[in-house]
Amino acid sequence: MHIAVLAGDGIGQEIMVEALRVLDALGLPDLRLDHADVGGVAYKNHGHPLPPETLELVMAADAVLFGAVGDPECDDLERHLRPEQAVLGLRKEMQTFANLRPAKAFAGLENLSALKPDIAGAINLLIFRELTGDIYFGEKGQRTTDAGLREGYDIMAYDEEEISRIAHIAFNAAQGRRKKLCSVDKANVLQTSVLWRAVVNEVAADYPDVELSHMYVDNAAMQLVRNPGQFDVMLTGNIFGDILSDQASMCVGSIGLLASASLGTGTRGLYEPIHGSAPDIAGQGIANPSAMILSAAMMLRHSFDMEEKASQIERAVADVLQQGILGHDLGGRASTCEIGDAVVARLAS
Ligand code: NAD
Ligand code: IPM
Ligand code: MN
Repeated sequence: MHIAVLAGDGIGQEIMVEALRVLDALGLPDLRLDHADVGGVAYKNHGHPLPPETLELVMAADAVLFGAVGDPECDDLERHLRPEQAVLGLRKEMQTFANLRPAKAFAGLENLSALKPDIAGAINLLIFRELTGDIYFGEKGQRTTDAGLREGYDIMAYDEEEISRIAHIAFNAAQGRRKKLCSVDKANVLQTSVLWRAVVNEVAADYPDVELSHMYVDNAAMQLVRNPGQFDVMLTGNIFGDILSDQASMCVGSIGLLASASLGTGTRGLYEPIHGSAPDIAGQGIANPSAMILSAAMMLRHSFDMEEKASQIERAVADVLQQGILGHDLGGRASTCEIGDAVVARLAS
């Protein structure tokens, strides 16, 4: 089990420590961890947010554990040198086009949600966010218009192959769940979405047991708050999935709770929390490491076929929440390290 460990910037460093302690507590015999710089710290140490030696390590590894990138000191750098380009570059290089972002209520902890407890308690959804296309990767730039005005542009585009390959993966996942798939788009306005909807309909023919629905993204944002329990699998593009997953996190309780797995065609994956480097709380030891720890669990499940170990970690995180050991993001006082301690203790008991 060769894992590239890229902690990155801000709270990425703090939460990664706890995830590695949790993996260590499992006593996995064949674990090899190799650390490398990524993001702002890599720019400062090597002049590039995704240095060649980091990429080389990643491409040789079986899986990548990724903390977060982003550093206010780098906000004015040219686009290709910004820390965020590292995570986009990794996703593209690894061809991890399918980003799984599960959001599930923790039993007995519905009161953590920003929603009313009876509404929050029903949340059990899995967002499939397309990760290597869309407006993120289309042509972009700034120019001057004929009228002499500054103009910025980002081209949104999807080809049919990009849509169908993630649709197949999402339909497959739905078959193993409640057999409902809601595809989210903006087909009333965007040509990208008109094609998206057509291709998803074509793919659906291979999965007659899955109930397919389509929803416009603005409605989906509203429905996620009104009645999130209606969703099983949500399938959407890169930008819509980015936004809806942050929203889903607050429906569960906090952005510090949501993990993700980014997969391509093989078993190699990229595992990261959905949140960022949180510069506003970095260095204070108060970040919630749960999303990072749960991302490590997803790694065990998806890259190493270790379902039992993955569930063990997930149960331990849920138990710790149930014990009332809550981070600042959930209105508690537990530090990053105390949450890590509690999860490790739970695994040992
Ligand atoms: P953010 O997710 O970093 O933080 C948003 C808010 O949530 C902040 O108030 C933060 O304190 C809080 N928060 C996030 N994670 C938390 C945790 N684990 N525990 C407790 N509180 C937590 O988003 P942002 O502030 O918009 O972005 C900050 C930087 O992170 C930017 O540079 C951005 O580009 C980058 N970013 C990186 C990733 C990534 O590496 N995958 C993801 C999102 C944002
Ligand atoms: C995420 C982040 C990234 C994204 C940024 C940092 C490029 O917001 O992983 O959700 O937009 O994909
Ligand atoms: Mn995001």
